[in-house]
Amino acid sequence: MAVKTFNLESSAVSTLHGRCQVPGDKSISHRALIFSAIARGQSVLSNFLQGADCIATLKALRALGVNIQSEDKTLQVQGVDLNGLKAAPHPLDCGNSGTTMRLLAGLLCGQKFPSTLVGDASLSRRPMQRIALPLSQMGAAVSLSKQETAPVEIKPVQGLHGIAYHLPIASAQVKSALLIAALYAQGTTRLSGKIQTRDHTERMMQSFACELETTEEAICLNPGQNLQGRQVQIPGDLSSAAFLIVAALITENSAIHIENVGVNPTRNGVLHILEQMGAKIRLYNQRAYGAEPVADIEVHASSLKGIVIPRELVASTIDEFPILFIAAACAQGVTQLCGAEELREKESDRIDAMARGLRACGVVVETQQDGMTIQGGKIEGGQVNSCGDHRVAMAFLVAGLVADQPVQVRDCVNIETSFPGFSDLAQQLGFHLCRA
Ligand code: S3P
Repeated sequence: MAVKTFNLESSAVSTLHGRCQVPGDKSISHRALIFSAIARGQSVLSNFLQGADCIATLKALRALGVNIQSEDKTLQVQGVDLNGLKAAPHPLDCGNSGTTMRLLAGLLCGQKFPSTLVGDASLSRRPMQRIALPLSQMGAAVSLSKQETAPVEIKPVQGLHGIAYHLPIASAQVKSALLIAALYAQGTTRLSGKIQTRDHTERMMQSFACELETTEEAICLNPGQNLQGRQVQIPGDLSSAAFLIVAALITENSAIHIENVGVNPTRNGVLHILEQMGAKIRLYNQRAYGAEPVADIEVHASSLKGIVIPRELVASTIDEFPILFIAAACAQGVTQLCGAEELREKESDRIDAMARGLRACGVVVETQQDGMTIQGGKIEGGQVNSCGDHRVAMAFLVAGLVADQPVQVRDCVNIETSFPGFSDLAQQLGFHLCRA
């Protein structure tokens, strides 16, 4: 069902202050649910992200026969074991969530029943051949539309077999889909190539007692494994915290603390890039939630300078470029990003959506197929379109904090996909937001 969207306007403030927590990590919430569903025994997940993307995974697993009790941010999942899923009575709606569609495709191609995965307009434009091809090589029967997009139709097959696959694209979703399918395969699955992406799947499989061999070069999974249900405490999402971090950095005299944030080294490129730009960020209370490192983060307003973003940090920063472009627009000098063509395949084409919005706010930018060059200085303000993309919407609401004129962002409903409660939390810290 289409939810009515709305516009938000953000205007300049003099300072941001406070201590807060952000909602649970989106990537970890999806994985915790999926592995709990196919584990033996009960799992209890705390600080689960009640955002639209993870709710899509939850509803899909319920439709596949998994009993999930949900109370606020705590879920009790009765695992059905690897072969206990049942055919869903309808196509599974993944909404706006690429992670739901790609990870569930990996799960469903090893089942003895057919499944169909569908999504909203944005998800239905995103490339699915990247999973269909290697899953077919494992023996799965996966078909896509003529444009190689959803709906993803999966037919049951006699059995899957392990493959050696060299990942041509740095995608944690592809890597994860193949590792989940490998649980149902005969023989070993070995992944190599561009495997240095967020490693939540590997960490979580291991904490569900699945043996996985991981080295710099390859990830190997042997057949005949079972997962064991467990308790999972989900860290706050660094990708959500990044909006607040940049907000505090660019707004004069600000100081904020964000508690319990996941700082997994395969995800924390944004912190390294901001530090190179001159950001005053301190991590403290460093500890672990199960296999995931967590910290509290202190941020102070800082004068930022433009940099050439190191290519080796692109994969660990992939979701943070919209907000980093805003930081770059507020920095002294030029910031340059290359090697990030994957940004064109996200919930929107993020190079195009951000460049349009930045230009509408008076910022000088040049785009390339794989990146952007941003002339830092000041943000004038204006009207921008989120292109239905939650991260583009939140990035421009942060820009409004320091703009000469308000920034009006059209189509903000999708903020709910990853950061429910963003507006209220932002206003508690000192943002001026209103419906426009
Ligand atoms: C995700 C992986 C990334 C990221 C997305 C979440 C995941 O996508 O952009 O928001 O949870 O595995 P890709 O795998 O397409 O890089």
